[in-house]
Amino acid sequence: MTAEAEIIAGLRDAGLTGEGDVVLQPLTGGVSCDVWKVETPTGPIVVKRPLPQLRVAAEWLAPVERGTSEVRWLRRARGVDPRLAPEVLAELPTGHAFAMRFLPGCPVWKDELMAGRVDVAFAAQVGTGIAAVHAATAHNESDRADFPNDEMFRALRVDPFLLHVARHDAELAPVLTALADDLSGRKIALAHGDVSPKNILVSADGPVFLDAECAVYGDPAFDLAFCTTHLLLKAVWSGDARLNDAAAALVDAYRAGIDWEDADGLMLRAGKLTAALLLARVEGKSPAPYLTDPEHKNIVRDQARALIARPSPLGELVANWKRNLA
Ligand SMILES: Nc1ncnc2c1ncn2[C@@H]1O[C@H](COP(=O)(O)OP(=O)(O)OP(=O)(O)O)[C@@H](O)[C@H]1O
Ligand SMILES: [Mg+2]
Repeated sequence: MTAEAEIIAGLRDAGLTGEGDVVLQPLTGGVSCDVWKVETPTGPIVVKRPLPQLRVAAEWLAPVERGTSEVRWLRRARGVDPRLAPEVLAELPTGHAFAMRFLPGCPVWKDELMAGRVDVAFAAQVGTGIAAVHAATAHNESDRADFPNDEMFRALRVDPFLLHVARHDAELAPVLTALADDLSGRKIALAHGDVSPKNILVSADGPVFLDAECAVYGDPAFDLAFCTTHLLLKAVWSGDARLNDAAAALVDAYRAGIDWEDADGLMLRAGKLTAALLLARVEGKSPAPYLTDPEHKNIVRDQARALIARPSPLGELVANWKRNLA
């Protein structure tokens, strides 16, 4: 049986499809997974199956078990607030695939931002949503036990985003290596691991977070830094000041939700991580695909390098972030 036929059989066994023909219609995206939309008698669903190897040049290896982490994260986030993630309908027996409800009429946030539709209030909702999951899972032994994904987080996040740059930059290597060790060592709350605008749907009820394959019990500052990085890169790409405002709103709203540790300490960690992630997006293994203009790259690189050498808390970093050379 082909993998597709197995998926269809799994959907039937889970009672999700009727007796008629079932068509797996590929959805866009997908460097790490096959993602299909499937029409069913009770409405459209999405089926996602992790690939054993990512479809990117660097070919990071990643275990297919990350499908299981994603399902766990989606369920846990819905336990915090059902608006934050799609409902998981079934886990299928083939290759850690799962089915979730399709959210109709919800654009991907990245597409909105790239089209110049910048909603600062929505950015604040993103900050509030991430902080809610962190607050609910902070210092929680059962969540810690459910997401023991340190090895995967190291392979998919710490190594490509921090250590890869360290290996190619002798000057920054000591700082970046120390940052990587610090990040790997913190076990504070459940991090999503891939809070990027391309993994957030814009629904009438606020942000819906997808794609939690890199979820790990670790440092919540990582999620905040990861998402802020994307907004700051897009500010340079577009020159649009509203993206700086969106980043500031995200950070402020997140900060207001911190009730599990000293907010200043977290903001400083997030500032350091953001500086490193900004540099990784112009020099690392996973460059921002839209940042191709050499001048844009220089603007990001120069600020990021200065910030790695002299860190500032994330709020200050965002307030001082320059979109252009003027
Ligand atoms: N439940 C859903 N409802 C509506 N659309 C969805 C849903 N899940 C996924 N999608 C769409 O499919 C796309 C890919 O999903 P997802 O990000 O989970 O997969 P991925 O393979 O990890 O993608 P990528 O590697 O591009 O981030 C999303 O950007 C979104 O457009
Ligand atoms: Mg995605």
